[in-house]
Amino acid sequence: MNRDIKNLDLRELQPFERHEKIFRMLEELKDQEILRITNDHEPKPLFYMLQGEYPGKFKWEYEKQGPKDWIFKITKISQDNKREKIKEMLKNLQKENVSNKLKEEAKIMLKNISPTELALIEQEIIKEGITRKEMRKLCDIHLEIMKEDFKNKDLKLKPGHPIHTLMEEHKEILDFVDKLKITVKKLESAKDFKDVKMEIEMLRFAAKHLVEADKHHQREEEVLFPEMEKSGIIEPPEIMREEHKDIKPKKKELYKIIDECEKLSYQDFVKKVKEIIEFLIKELPDHIYKENNILYPMAVEVIKEKKRWEKIKKECDKIGYCCFTPKC
Ligand SMILES: [Fe+2]
Ligand SMILES: [Fe+2]
Repeated sequence: MNRDIKNLDLRELQPFERHEKIFRMLEELKDQEILRITNDHEPKPLFYMLQGEYPGKFKWEYEKQGPKDWIFKITKISQDNKREKIKEMLKNLQKENVSNKLKEEAKIMLKNISPTELALIEQEIIKEGITRKEMRKLCDIHLEIMKEDFKNKDLKLKPGHPIHTLMEEHKEILDFVDKLKITVKKLESAKDFKDVKMEIEMLRFAAKHLVEADKHHQREEEVLFPEMEKSGIIEPPEIMREEHKDIKPKKKELYKIIDECEKLSYQDFVKKVKEIIEFLIKELPDHIYKENNILYPMAVEVIKEKKRWEKIKKECDKIGYCCFTPKC
């Protein structure tokens, strides 16, 4: 391993020369090489700049902290090493009873890598033998850890952009899920079909629209996911496809039960409907959360060319939209 140290004494340079010199030398550092800097004041702005512009790329250690001189070492972190560490952390997260300390460490690590880089690491883990089911669990823990951070991210897409449309549809879908949630409670407190006529109509309305969302899944599966796969993002779309496989039949089943409700006793009807709704009110918002906060940002990151998005838009137009797709 190369542990060469390059020295830079900023005291010998004019203030206006320092910034450029530091960053030139940092750019030239190879993995594990160290830039040892001597300065005549505390280098806090440089520290924050490195954290902001090169997250996860350099390690910072003080050798001397004033009062006259400050000496500090900046080591370029080997990206292979970083990958191995993240892989190990992800594997530990799968174990039972994850401690808060591990969650905090994971949060710091995950903050420093891009969604694309994380996707590539996850692909490597799958190749090494983790099942997709375990990967789904990992994905959930990842979300739990990063929830607060994801909230602040905004993709800033214009109306008409395929991802913007998908996200607008998600809002509508969540609204139907809310309707299911409210209605099922009312069904439980009633005793007979005749007391819940309005509620059944509401259920029928929400279930019909959820089935209609198949066009939304189709655009994801047939257009967006393959385009992401072309850019090397394989696992996250695959996990989303698997979730679609679980969600789609449940929506259809719900609609069928409501449509044929007179064939069942009221108690059986409520029992069956409740079971499916409980599944949907958990799984659908989770699925949407993952797409809004991981998958779509990843797509925007890896599909850079305007032309590719234009092609995606055309293909989405061909498949068509849902009756509830907001008009842009
Ligand atoms: Fe989806
Ligand atoms: Fe979606």
